[in-house]
Amino acid sequence: MPRVIYYFTGTGNSLDFATKLARVLDATMIPMTDDTVPQTTSDDCVGLIYPTYMYRPPRLVVRFISKLTAAKYLYVVAINGGEPGDVLERSAKILKQQGLEMNAGFKVALPDNYTPFGGPPEQDKQQEMFSAADVRVKEIAAVISGSAAHRDPKPGWFKTTIHPALWYSLGYWAIPTSDRNFWLNGNCVGCESCSKICPVRNIAIVDNRPQWNGHCEQCFACLQWCNKQAIELGKKTAGVARYRNPNIKRKQLIQRPRSSAR
Ligand SMILES: Cc1cc2nc3c(=O)[nH]c(=O)nc-3n(C[C@H](O)[C@H](O)[C@H](O)COP(=O)(O)O)c2cc1C
Ligand code: SF4
Ligand code: SF4
Repeated sequence: MPRVIYYFTGTGNSLDFATKLARVLDATMIPMTDDTVPQTTSDDCVGLIYPTYMYRPPRLVVRFISKLTAAKYLYVVAINGGEPGDVLERSAKILKQQGLEMNAGFKVALPDNYTPFGGPPEQDKQQEMFSAADVRVKEIAAVISGSAAHRDPKPGWFKTTIHPALWYSLGYWAIPTSDRNFWLNGNCVGCESCSKICPVRNIAIVDNRPQWNGHCEQCFACLQWCNKQAIELGKKTAGVARYRNPNIKRKQLIQRPRSSAR
């Protein structure tokens, strides 16, 4: 069965995990963008790997799923910062609306990139997470190789009802225009890297400076990958350490290549 992995990433965790899994499964990797046209057939093993945003798949992923038509075996790996909530249940529901079954769903914790809540975990904690994720690559590959049904457990009621309804729902729907809270702290040198890295081309360069245009995914790629740490969000990021996955290079995100893992 031909295997393909579609991935979305802001700071590289999902790409790192997708790369490792693709290597074991001998799968082709394709980035999810608004331009990606999935060409899967009912013979294919299709993987969707993406970060968890407010217990949900990112909005770009939801748009991508609406274009997906067929798979023989379909699995989701929801990368997260340790609080995935019911992202798998929500993903399965969105896939079902598209007539697709989520045959397997996995949650994998990697360092949190939500800088407004504080910087990434300490280095030793990060190492623990990477080691645990490497173990999960093998476990998940075994499930997929056997085309087995699987779903990581659902959390308790607070994480699936009150918490997402009262807090995260509001935030999720406000994501596209949340970019009005980005500002420059004076370190910007006009290198344009933030504009090139944005997965939805939401950043124009005007007078040598980035300008956000109100259709943001809040992936934080611009803020995290700026070498000058020139981008801030509201009052919450000044002086807070940035995060990017150590195994991923900026150019892998800028080029967004159609690539084979081999
Ligand atoms: C807007 C936003 C919302 C997030 N919401 C959650 C969440 O609900 N639960 C969680 O565990 N992590 C959450 N995170 C953390 C990311 O899921 C996590 O850091 C992930 O590894 C990032 O993947 P990436 O490097 O591929 O972008 C959020 C991050 C962002 C930017
Ligand atoms: S904000 Fe950072 S990445 Fe963007 S142009 Fe300025 S220095 Fe370059
Ligand atoms: S503007 Fe920044 S945070 Fe928003 S989608 Fe683009 S890179 Fe991600």
